[in-house]
Amino acid sequence: MRFMNLQYVKRYRMELDLRRWRRPRIEVPVDFRLVTWHPSLGQAHAEVKYASFRGEIDSQVFPCLGELEGCEQLMSEIEARDGFLPEGTWLAQYIGSECVGVEESVPEYCGTIQAVRTHKTKANIQNIGVVPYHRGRGIGTALILASLLGLHHLGIGRVCLEVTAENEAAVRLYRQLGFRTARTLYKAVELAYSEAGR
Ligand SMILES: CC(C)(COP(=O)(O)OP(=O)(O)OC[C@H]1O[C@@H](n2cnc3c(N)ncnc32)[C@H](O)[C@@H]1OP(=O)(O)O)[C@@H](O)C(=O)NCCC(=O)NCCS
Repeated sequence: MRFMNLQYVKRYRMELDLRRWRRPRIEVPVDFRLVTWHPSLGQAHAEVKYASFRGEIDSQVFPCLGELEGCEQLMSEIEARDGFLPEGTWLAQYIGSECVGVEESVPEYCGTIQAVRTHKTKANIQNIGVVPYHRGRGIGTALILASLLGLHHLGIGRVCLEVTAENEAAVRLYRQLGFRTARTLYKAVELAYSEAGR
């Protein structure tokens, strides 16, 4: 039997002041490249999002992230928003010799990030995901820096993101890149559990 349990998940709203930002060099790991936004890439962003978030804490906080259809719908909504910023939206692609399971002509996308303007000089970056196999190589860092650089060129002065406090790897990464916690939020989440696993 399955039960629903309402819980409050601690989240941080983190901010980076881009006006004081010292533009770093973006180091894209060998065998990877970053791909700028194009409307034909919405499905690729959705698929990488799904592959990156399924089974992770955020797919419990935002159930749509744990399903391909949910990620497709989310991606369609994001790109349709007035504030959608192609300059802050990137895919990472693996181009090394170990591409497996796909025809050579099919690109192996492995990381995603999107940006949305929330005010004339403010933007959010969101849904940063790297597929498990390619984590810990600097792809998340490269995606975030590419997005920040794009936003900096647009004159965005402040960038925000939200992260689940329990997601220590992500929180550490954002801190390393200069983001600081501006606010702590609590999001009500319905978590499903089975009787056996209570
Ligand atoms: C959070 C996430 C995007 C990070 O992606 P990533 O590609 O692993 O990030 P990076 O490789 O740039 O950085 C991760 C770690 O690898 C280290 N690293 C970076 N470049 C490296 C390299 N060349 N070699 C070895 N390690 C490296 C970083 O220092 C960092 O170390 P730390 O965890 O000890 O601080 C990824 O874990 C993810 O997709 N998680 C699931 C989805 C999610 O929760 N997203 C965040 C939502 S807010």
